[in-house]
Amino acid sequence: MAEPKKLFIKTYGCQMNVYDSERMVESLGAEGYVTTEVAEEADMVLLNTCHIREKASEKLYSDLGRLKPLKAAKPGMKIGVAGCVAQAEGAEIQRRMPLVDLVVGPQSYHRLPAMMGDLAQGKTAIETDFPPEDKFDHLPERKVLRGPSAFLTVQEGCDKFCAFCVVPYTRGAEVSRPVDRLLTEARGLVEKGVKEITLLGQNVNAYHGAGEGGAWGLARLVRALARIDGLERIRYTTSHPNDMEDDLIAAHGDEAKLMPYLHLPVQSGSDRILKAMNRKHTRDQYFLLIERIRAARPDILLSSDFIVGFPGETDQDFADTMDLIRTVGFGSSFSFKYSARPGTPAAEKEPVAAEVADARLQELQALITAQQRAAQEVMVGREVGVIYEKPGRLPGQMVGKSDHLHAVHVDDPDGRIGDLVRVRIKATSSNSLAGQRL
Ligand code: SAH
Ligand code: SF4
Ligand code: F3S
Repeated sequence: MAEPKKLFIKTYGCQMNVYDSERMVESLGAEGYVTTEVAEEADMVLLNTCHIREKASEKLYSDLGRLKPLKAAKPGMKIGVAGCVAQAEGAEIQRRMPLVDLVVGPQSYHRLPAMMGDLAQGKTAIETDFPPEDKFDHLPERKVLRGPSAFLTVQEGCDKFCAFCVVPYTRGAEVSRPVDRLLTEARGLVEKGVKEITLLGQNVNAYHGAGEGGAWGLARLVRALARIDGLERIRYTTSHPNDMEDDLIAAHGDEAKLMPYLHLPVQSGSDRILKAMNRKHTRDQYFLLIERIRAARPDILLSSDFIVGFPGETDQDFADTMDLIRTVGFGSSFSFKYSARPGTPAAEKEPVAAEVADARLQELQALITAQQRAAQEVMVGREVGVIYEKPGRLPGQMVGKSDHLHAVHVDDPDGRIGDLVRVRIKATSSNSLAGQRL
């Protein structure tokens, strides 16, 4: 039998890229590729890239530089670039880095096998169209599972056009996958042992997939998924505040499988900056929304993304952001220094001085770290559900996620990956909790 060809895949950026990489592995698996962790022995190297900030984009070129000697030592090696940099820069990547054989944008992954065929015939392979068909229709069934928790992309693309963001350009317009496909995919995952599904979308709560009787919103999809026996937990990310519909908020109150954690990025606490960002809501509207969500599910843990140093951000604007964080109290948050992205409206504006942005980022991160610690401390003494995801570093130890998405270490020599157990939280450390199985 012929040796299988080897695929090395590296994933940058968001969870959707993680999901897409899994799907590409499956698609190329059908073409006879097996994955390898060692780039040197790969026949095909695929870099699934992110364009969200300058640093993320630059990683592609430094990694391509490192691949040069590998390809020189193994002339048959093919190098492909997928993801959002592929979409944004297209053929330019090949001009800048001639060692690249293939460029494929996120909407064209179902074309990969055909593109590989073109490569074998010595043709170039560049696909950055937004084809009308659903890429997922053409991908094989899910096989690659990384434990009891899986991602499921339900919606892709974004019509919001926040002034700083490349996603509407790299992922295109909002598209929702039909309900029946998602239920089938979810059942398939559960049959393979998945107990927790995180629904993915750049704007996941804008989901409006075709279902029985018309378009379904996310709440209805969540409720249908919750009826799948064996599926224990449902999460979704990332949501936009303006798409938090009443029925979705209600589901947080009465759908037991919907976990008490919500990532609801606000980006800034200043009305002036929110307007300049084109976020289309005010800080007060965000506060009201949080109140309604907490009324439905009082113990919900909230998280957010923040951008500091957006063009025009004054000390007062930044103080408003700090005030919003203190007022809401987040369980965790991601924060970024504004990065000007080519082609976005904000990139035309005068940037905030780098030292000022750096200082603000530090101050903001200190506050969110303190809030994260506080949210962890609150858990000490409480009983929580944990699904084990992997063995811990110590013998007999398991690590899993709590309902509130905290990493929890448990001494449990009999524990197995995928077990859903009750745990009493005993202690908290910087990034995780420790507990005792009940
Ligand atoms: N769809 C999600 C965000 C996807 S990008 C949402 O609407 O919230 C993830 C995060 O990256 C954003 O929430 C934002 O905080 C950050 N981000 C996006 N563009 C950025 C830029 N140009 N500079 C710095 N951070 C950025
Ligand atoms: Fe980007 Fe999110 Fe805004 Fe869409 S809603 S443009 S993905 S930050
Ligand atoms: Fe990055 Fe594209 Fe995701 S830009 S964050 S990989 S949608």
